[in-house]
Amino acid sequence: MKKQTLLGTLLGLSLLSSATVAHIEQSEPLQSLRQSYFALLGMTFGPMGDMVKGKIEWDNALFTTWANDLNHAAQFGVERGFAPGSDKGMTRAKPNIWSNMDDFQSKLDNFRAAAASLADIAAEGDPAASREQFVATGGTCKACHDEYKSKDYLY
Ligand code: HEC
Repeated sequence: MKKQTLLGTLLGLSLLSSATVAHIEQSEPLQSLRQSYFALLGMTFGPMGDMVKGKIEWDNALFTTWANDLNHAAQFGVERGFAPGSDKGMTRAKPNIWSNMDDFQSKLDNFRAAAASLADIAAEGDPAASREQFVATGGTCKACHDEYKSKDYLY
């Protein structure tokens, strides 16, 4: 019984991985990959914003943990989620990304640099400085969204 279960699991896993390999060639999983990246950013940056706005009590240690999470998430190579041909489908990514890839990349670089500073500054434990760098980091999200993210799904 145990053996069967193990075999079933192994078969299931190998089916899953071949399906993943097949799908990775198509655009939708790349959209999922980049949307997962941004969802992770949003779900980390959101509670930090609640703390900055005073909706939840300021807690330096927790703010620093979130800032580190944001920084680590930021470093993930989301660029491969914007491979050529992944522009259509369920997405809010505007088509001008693919015709302005250098500018898009520099906005991503700016965000990553801001998130790295936010982690450093948070670790110093001065709430006013943390708040200021949080706002600056939010500005780098907005700079990209203003140009390259639609409010609604595009297709
Ligand atoms: C370099 C550009 C860029 C930067 C920087 C950026 N975003 Fe985005 N964001 C996008 C694009 C493009 C999408 C749409 C992706 C899609 O739908 O395929 C997106 C989507 C999102 C989404 C929706 C994810 C979903 O569930 O589909 C959230 C939330 C989000 N961004 C939050 C943030 C936050 C918070 C930051 C900064 C901490 C940030 N983004 C920085 C370009 C950017």
